[in-house]
Amino acid sequence: MNEYRVSGVLIPEDRLAERVREIGREIGRDYAGRELVVVGILKGAVVFLSDLLRAIPETVDISLDFMAVSSYGASTKTRGIVKIVKDLDGSVEDKDVLIVEDIVDTGLTLSYLVKLMQERRPRSIRICALLDKEERRKVRVDVDYKGFSIPDEFVVGYGLDYNGKWRHLPSVHIVEQE
Ligand code: IMP
Ligand code: MG
Repeated sequence: MNEYRVSGVLIPEDRLAERVREIGREIGRDYAGRELVVVGILKGAVVFLSDLLRAIPETVDISLDFMAVSSYGASTKTRGIVKIVKDLDGSVEDKDVLIVEDIVDTGLTLSYLVKLMQERRPRSIRICALLDKEERRKVRVDVDYKGFSIPDEFVVGYGLDYNGKWRHLPSVHIVEQE
Protein backbone atom coordinates (compact mmCIF):
# COMPACT_ATOMS: atom_id res chain seq x y z
CA MET A 1 0.00 0.00 0.00
CA ASN A 2 1.05 3.56 -0.57
CA GLU A 3 -0.47 4.76 2.65
CA TYR A 4 1.65 6.82 4.95
CA ARG A 5 1.19 6.95 8.66
CA VAL A 6 2.78 8.61 11.64
CA SER A 7 4.84 6.23 13.70
CA GLY A 8 6.61 6.58 17.02
CA VAL A 9 7.85 9.77 18.57
CA LEU A 10 11.36 10.76 17.55
CA ILE A 11 11.54 13.88 19.73
CA PRO A 12 8.90 14.31 22.44
CA GLU A 13 7.45 17.72 23.21
CA ASP A 14 9.22 18.15 26.53
CA ARG A 15 12.63 17.67 24.89
CA LEU A 16 11.66 20.13 22.15
CA ALA A 17 10.60 22.69 24.75
CA GLU A 18 13.79 22.27 26.76
CA ARG A 19 16.06 22.59 23.72
CA VAL A 20 14.15 25.59 22.34
CA ARG A 21 14.56 27.38 25.68
CA GLU A 22 18.33 26.69 25.57
CA ILE A 23 18.62 28.09 22.04
CA GLY A 24 16.61 31.16 23.06
CA ARG A 25 19.00 31.84 25.94
CA GLU A 26 22.00 31.37 23.62
CA ILE A 27 20.55 33.85 21.11
CA GLY A 28 19.91 36.18 24.05
CA ARG A 29 23.58 36.07 25.05
CA ASP A 30 24.84 36.54 21.49
CA TYR A 31 22.57 39.46 20.58
CA ALA A 32 22.11 41.23 23.94
CA GLY A 33 21.62 44.96 23.45
CA ARG A 34 21.32 44.56 19.69
CA GLU A 35 18.60 44.74 17.09
CA LEU A 36 17.80 41.47 15.40
CA VAL A 37 15.54 40.76 12.43
CA VAL A 38 14.19 37.25 12.86
CA VAL A 39 13.14 35.82 9.49
CA GLY A 40 10.83 32.81 9.76
CA ILE A 41 10.57 30.52 6.75
CA LEU A 42 6.94 29.66 6.13
CA LYS A 43 5.23 27.43 6.79
CA GLY A 44 7.35 24.77 8.46
CA ALA A 45 9.13 27.03 10.93
CA VAL A 46 6.09 28.70 12.50
CA VAL A 47 5.56 26.38 15.46
CA PHE A 48 9.25 26.31 16.36
CA LEU A 49 9.50 30.07 15.79
CA SER A 50 6.59 30.93 18.04
CA ASP A 51 8.16 29.01 20.92
CA LEU A 52 11.66 30.28 20.15
CA LEU A 53 10.60 33.96 20.08
CA ARG A 54 9.20 33.69 23.58
CA ALA A 55 12.44 32.09 24.79
CA ILE A 56 14.59 35.02 23.67
CA PRO A 57 15.10 37.50 26.54
CA GLU A 58 13.83 41.08 26.29
CA THR A 59 17.41 42.39 26.13
CA VAL A 60 17.33 41.59 22.41
CA ASP A 61 15.44 44.12 20.27
CA ILE A 62 13.56 41.73 17.98
CA SER A 63 11.59 42.44 14.86
CA LEU A 64 9.87 39.70 12.95
CA ASP A 65 9.55 39.07 9.25
CA PHE A 66 8.65 36.08 7.07
CA MET A 67 9.54 34.51 3.78
CA ALA A 68 7.75 31.71 1.99
CA VAL A 69 9.58 29.59 -0.55
CA SER A 70 8.73 26.66 -2.74
CA SER A 71 10.99 24.50 -4.83
CA TYR A 72 10.43 24.45 -8.59
CA GLY A 73 9.84 20.70 -8.85
CA ALA A 74 12.06 17.65 -8.87
CA SER A 75 14.67 18.47 -11.52
CA THR A 76 15.37 22.03 -10.46
CA LYS A 77 15.26 21.07 -6.81
CA THR A 78 18.64 19.37 -7.23
CA ARG A 79 20.07 22.66 -8.53
CA GLY A 80 18.69 24.51 -5.56
CA ILE A 81 16.37 26.83 -7.43
CA VAL A 82 13.65 27.98 -5.11
CA LYS A 83 10.81 30.32 -5.83
CA ILE A 84 10.06 33.16 -3.43
CA VAL A 85 6.33 32.87 -2.79
CA LYS A 86 6.33 35.62 -0.18
CA ASP A 87 9.18 38.06 0.27
CA LEU A 88 10.19 40.04 3.34
CA ASP A 89 8.06 43.05 4.25
CA GLY A 90 11.04 45.14 5.38
CA SER A 91 14.63 45.91 4.46
CA VAL A 92 17.49 44.00 6.09
CA GLU A 93 20.20 46.42 4.99
CA ASP A 94 22.74 46.96 7.82
CA LYS A 95 20.67 44.74 10.11
CA ASP A 96 21.57 41.56 11.95
CA VAL A 97 19.47 38.76 10.49
CA LEU A 98 18.58 35.38 11.95
CA ILE A 99 16.94 32.96 9.53
CA VAL A 100 14.74 30.42 11.32
CA GLU A 101 14.00 27.20 9.46
CA ASP A 102 12.38 23.93 10.47
CA ILE A 103 14.87 21.47 8.97
CA VAL A 104 18.02 21.36 6.86
CA ASP A 105 18.03 18.43 4.47
CA THR A 106 20.15 18.77 1.30
CA GLY A 107 20.89 22.36 2.30
CA LEU A 108 19.87 23.69 -1.13
CA THR A 109 17.01 25.85 0.15
CA LEU A 110 19.03 27.55 2.85
CA SER A 111 22.14 28.07 0.75
CA TYR A 112 19.95 29.78 -1.86
CA LEU A 113 18.23 31.91 0.78
CA VAL A 114 21.53 32.96 2.35
CA LYS A 115 22.87 34.02 -1.05
CA LEU A 116 19.72 36.00 -1.74
CA MET A 117 19.84 37.62 1.69
CA GLN A 118 23.51 38.55 1.27
CA GLU A 119 22.66 40.56 -1.84
CA ARG A 120 20.55 42.79 0.41
CA ARG A 121 23.62 43.80 2.43
CA PRO A 122 22.66 42.90 5.99
CA ARG A 123 25.19 43.47 8.75
CA SER A 124 25.26 39.76 9.54
CA ILE A 125 23.36 36.56 8.77
CA ARG A 126 23.00 33.54 11.01
CA ILE A 127 20.92 30.41 10.65
CA CYS A 128 18.81 28.68 13.27
CA ALA A 129 17.31 25.30 12.37
CA LEU A 130 15.36 23.01 14.65
CA LEU A 131 16.42 19.80 12.87
CA ASP A 132 19.39 18.77 10.75
CA LYS A 133 19.68 15.67 8.56
CA GLU A 134 23.44 15.92 8.13
CA GLU A 135 23.74 12.70 6.09
CA ARG A 136 21.65 14.21 3.30
CA ARG A 137 23.67 17.37 2.83
CA LYS A 138 24.60 18.28 -0.78
CA VAL A 139 25.82 21.81 -0.23
CA ARG A 140 27.46 23.32 2.80
CA VAL A 141 25.26 25.28 5.16
CA ASP A 142 26.59 26.70 8.41
CA VAL A 143 23.88 26.17 11.00
CA ASP A 144 24.70 28.53 13.86
CA TYR A 145 21.92 27.39 16.20
CA LYS A 146 20.77 23.81 15.85
CA GLY A 147 18.08 22.00 17.80
CA PHE A 148 18.78 18.36 16.99
CA SER A 149 20.69 16.28 14.47
CA ILE A 150 18.40 13.51 13.22
CA PRO A 151 18.83 10.37 11.08
CA ASP A 152 17.76 10.21 7.43
CA GLU A 153 14.05 9.71 8.08
CA PHE A 154 11.07 11.75 6.95
CA VAL A 155 9.64 13.52 9.98
CA VAL A 156 6.47 15.46 10.74
CA GLY A 157 4.97 17.41 13.62
CA TYR A 158 5.93 20.59 15.48
CA GLY A 159 5.38 22.50 12.22
CA LEU A 160 6.79 19.94 9.79
CA ASP A 161 4.42 18.37 7.29
CA TYR A 162 3.95 15.56 4.84
CA ASN A 163 1.78 16.89 1.97
CA GLY A 164 0.50 19.62 4.24
CA LYS A 165 -0.50 17.23 7.00
CA TRP A 166 0.53 16.71 10.62
CA ARG A 167 2.03 20.14 11.28
CA HIS A 168 -0.05 20.46 14.44
CA LEU A 169 1.38 17.43 16.26
CA PRO A 170 3.18 18.61 19.42
CA SER A 171 6.08 16.14 19.05
CA VAL A 172 8.32 15.20 16.10
CA HIS A 173 7.35 11.84 14.60
CA ILE A 174 8.76 9.60 11.85
CA VAL A 175 6.50 8.96 8.85
CA GLU A 176 6.28 5.35 7.69
CA GLN A 177 4.95 3.78 4.53
CA GLU A 178 2.56 0.95 5.23
P1 IMP B 1 16.60 21.17 1.56
O1 IMP B 1 16.61 22.28 0.56
O2 IMP B 1 16.82 19.84 0.93
O3 IMP B 1 17.55 21.40 2.71
O4 IMP B 1 15.13 21.08 2.08
C1 IMP B 1 14.66 21.67 3.18
C2 IMP B 1 13.15 21.69 3.15
O5 IMP B 1 12.62 20.41 2.77
C3 IMP B 1 12.63 21.98 4.51
O6 IMP B 1 12.40 23.36 4.65
C4 IMP B 1 11.34 21.19 4.55
O7 IMP B 1 10.29 21.97 4.03
C5 IMP B 1 11.57 20.04 3.62
N1 IMP B 1 11.91 18.79 4.34
C6 IMP B 1 13.08 18.12 4.28
N2 IMP B 1 13.05 17.02 5.04
C7 IMP B 1 11.83 17.01 5.64
C8 IMP B 1 11.20 16.11 6.58
O8 IMP B 1 11.75 15.10 7.04
N3 IMP B 1 9.94 16.44 6.95
C9 IMP B 1 9.29 17.54 6.49
N4 IMP B 1 9.84 18.41 5.62
C10 IMP B 1 11.10 18.14 5.18
MG1 MG C 1 10.27 24.19 4.84
